[in-house]
Amino acid sequence: MITVFGSINLDMVIRVADFPRPGETIPTRGFAMSAGGKGANQALAVRRAGGNVRMVGLTGADSHADLALALLKDAGVDLSRTGVCNDSTGLAFIQVEDSGENTIAIVKGANGEVSVATAEATLADLSKGDILLLQQEIPLAAIDKAIDLAKSAGAKSVLNTAPFQTDYIALANKVDVVISNETEFDALMPGTGPRVERARAFADENNRLLIVTLGADGAMVVEPGREPVVVPSPKLETVVDTTGAGDTFCGYFCKMLADGADPVAATRMAVKAASLACCKNGAQPSIPLASEIE
Ligand code: RIB
Repeated sequence: MITVFGSINLDMVIRVADFPRPGETIPTRGFAMSAGGKGANQALAVRRAGGNVRMVGLTGADSHADLALALLKDAGVDLSRTGVCNDSTGLAFIQVEDSGENTIAIVKGANGEVSVATAEATLADLSKGDILLLQQEIPLAAIDKAIDLAKSAGAKSVLNTAPFQTDYIALANKVDVVISNETEFDALMPGTGPRVERARAFADENNRLLIVTLGADGAMVVEPGREPVVVPSPKLETVVDTTGAGDTFCGYFCKMLADGADPVAATRMAVKAASLACCKNGAQPSIPLASEIE
């Protein structure tokens, strides 16, 4: 079983030709509301990859929660440990420009209420062989506790270091697998030397698997004591929207690991899925099914 412990958002998305500059007012090309949140997106990616997955997180008792959870429910993600709290459902305000790049501002809402107590109440029965997938959109103490619970159960912990937050850095030293983009990795392991050397040092020092996603260039797999391997990405003619591509990568990667794939094979599948996710609008609406990848 794969458990995702993380955020649930409703995304408010506008498309713009170019991001507005400070002080500028611009027209948009359109507006859409769709389900999002890094945790929820990753849970849906596991499910669309064909895996069994449980989503643990919090929403508000509001109508936004229904929209935020609708695709997870339809897909058959186990929501039995997703709770409701007094704060409102998390929101993400997203601008996507014609290049497909985005900016995201978050109202954390209920995601900010996820706590050590939430972890204790929902993750106590993790077991050996399980995978716990985490991101950094909920409070640090809750993630820290979840990692400890996974460790004592013999479950594998996988941390996606997005969104990057300086005070969360120590978490990367506690987990079995770290998935970072280039910017996040450079902040985790700063230095002037080539990234590949720093990545090798990070994996060797901590004896854990590191994946550095490289955007359009694919991803680098760094296993302790081995030569790093770069898995290229398929070339896309048009990038529509990159929102959720990283989440798609994480979900597919964990599903493949759970099936016993080696890290390079898991990355190959994850890179293809993440590329396809850039071809449609929205975070959750763009996550492909495994059959679409084949
Ligand atoms: O990674 C994309 C996600 O980041 C969006 O769905 C948004 O909700 C933010 O959490």
